[in-house]
Amino acid sequence: MSDKAINYPVPEAAMKGAHVSGMPAYLKLVAEADADHGAYWARLAREFVSWKTPFTKSLDEGGAPFFKWFEDGTLNAAYNCLDRHVERGLGEKVAILFEADDGQVTRVTYNDLLARTCRLANALKARGVKKGDRVVIYMSMSVEGVVAMQACARIGATHSVVFGGFSAQSLRDRIAGAGAVMVITADEQLRGGKRLPLKAIVEEAMALGGCESVKDVIVYRRTGGQVAWDASRDRWMHEETEKQGDTCDPEWVGAEHPLFLLYTSGSTGKPKGVQHSTGGYLVHAAVSTTWTFDLKDEDVFWCTADIGWVTGHTYITYGPLAIGATQVVFEGVPTYPDAGRFWKMIQDHKVSVFYTAPTAIRSLIKAAEANEAVHPRSYDLGSLRILGSVGEPINPAAWEWYHQHVGGGRCPIVDTFWQTETGGHMITPLPGATPLVPGSCTLPFPGIAAAVVDEIGNDVPNGQGGLLVVKKPWPGMIRNIWEDPERFRASYFPQELKGYYLAGDGAIRDAESGYFTITGRIDDVLNVSGHRMGTMEIESALVSCTSLVAEAAVVGRPDETTGETICAFVVLKGPRPTGDEAKKIATELRNWVAKEIGPIAKPKDIRFGDNLPKTRSGKIMRRLLRSIAKDEAITQDISTLENPAVLEQLMERN
Ligand code: PRX
Repeated sequence: MSDKAINYPVPEAAMKGAHVSGMPAYLKLVAEADADHGAYWARLAREFVSWKTPFTKSLDEGGAPFFKWFEDGTLNAAYNCLDRHVERGLGEKVAILFEADDGQVTRVTYNDLLARTCRLANALKARGVKKGDRVVIYMSMSVEGVVAMQACARIGATHSVVFGGFSAQSLRDRIAGAGAVMVITADEQLRGGKRLPLKAIVEEAMALGGCESVKDVIVYRRTGGQVAWDASRDRWMHEETEKQGDTCDPEWVGAEHPLFLLYTSGSTGKPKGVQHSTGGYLVHAAVSTTWTFDLKDEDVFWCTADIGWVTGHTYITYGPLAIGATQVVFEGVPTYPDAGRFWKMIQDHKVSVFYTAPTAIRSLIKAAEANEAVHPRSYDLGSLRILGSVGEPINPAAWEWYHQHVGGGRCPIVDTFWQTETGGHMITPLPGATPLVPGSCTLPFPGIAAAVVDEIGNDVPNGQGGLLVVKKPWPGMIRNIWEDPERFRASYFPQELKGYYLAGDGAIRDAESGYFTITGRIDDVLNVSGHRMGTMEIESALVSCTSLVAEAAVVGRPDETTGETICAFVVLKGPRPTGDEAKKIATELRNWVAKEIGPIAKPKDIRFGDNLPKTRSGKIMRRLLRSIAKDEAITQDISTLENPAVLEQLMERN
């Protein structure tokens, strides 16, 4: 590796005593995995996870691409996250430092968390929930949300968490898709001083039909706000758990038992129910939490993600608890009561490892530049030791600011590349081993065979871009798309790629250092503020407004703060609107999309045309729309364009 490309060597302090200390230690792990992939992961599986029945075989590739890891081993995820720490005398250690939206702090020890999980697990069993049943969790950030996930894991039920910002329609699709027997929700959520309904949306989702599999709705009372009540189905969480005991025998499950489903967007069709395993997933979660964040017993970890996304699953509910860490869980938003909230919380809780998204950093930079009082330098952030970034590329300017102003120039930044499907980190620096280059996620996690290839799976030389693939299976990988094995195979293991896992991102490796840089999605998936959305999904939502919309095309536009924004080109059934009329209809359509998918999918920019630019064969010219969305001069060849006059219409902003 040449020094030229390396801007930030590993600080002495980060290397000292690190789990993976120094580049030779990293390379040794890589060599161990290269020499015997199965034996390497088996060693880690034995070291990081407690098994009820030890496994005898590491990887089974017989049914590729339906890989199996540690298949004849049995375990329980909640036992691994809770009981075993209590058994080794850490029961009084704080597991969760919960800070509510209004600043109130609650400390939950491992003893408490275990007892609360057992009470809820018993309550679920009392309501008839069994091993293998699916439970949808539609909750805000709360201890109860984490407890709900752990309670499902304890009894072998498969949870499917739905982000609290999704609409009734999206929630309905996920409940119906999973055939859930129960929904766990809250009366309302509190974010940024505002109360937002949850139970009412569950009500609405159920009324849409198709949720007949749901027998019970368990409601956590968060705000005490008024909610509609169906006595045959709805039950308060506190009433159900009050009558239950503090112990509940864990249900031992096979390593491949589905721990959870998590719906995510693809380039075509409806969101996919990504199915994860118990054993392999937990191994990847525990090992990556330990190595990437170099977590030690005395650390205070804070991952700002929501449990509705995969980051909240792996780096809140499972990874940190599996290794007995202390972590902060935050109910609110980074800008309430002001944009200094994150910095104040780091100061108050003496957070040592902080993990957030580039979008949050970029918006906090803006706020800090405008107001010294919310600048990180107005707080004591001396407790910080390691910083992390996830969800989208972090641009070098934001990286430098994060490094200098949040990390005081001394904290390594781990820019972690991974996906809902990968279960855990795939390409990331290890803080005590990897010299850093802003904007690069650096090198593969040891045991992850990441590579850059062309469209037939041949390696491309460093310095040339290509498709990001993973050549060998890994324990935390997606096991299936819920009840859609064909889509699983077609999406992730296309025939022409030699059986490699296709990530759906482009990447380039530095010619000298071999460091990876992610160049963005190669499909029609957008990343808005780190939230993943399919353009097709938004187009379907728009055209489902049948009273207004005839046709719609959606593209992403690069944005300084949110990474990308959604830009929609719409043809109405009636005449093309202009002026105030266009503004009014654009607002109506935005609200329509919020109702169909959720507020995160609202197009920022909506433009109207008499038609969309199409080739003579009728294909929408999306590349052209991308240029128009960026207000770029059109340099593409438009000679095949059927209707060039619409271009001018589509350039008009509303
Ligand atoms: O495009 C990549 C981007 O986010 C996608 C995965 O989104 P999701 O499944 O929602 O998971 C997000 C949290 C793990 C990827 O295909 N992405 C994620 N992390 C990075 C990233 N792009 C660049 N750098 C990253 N560190």
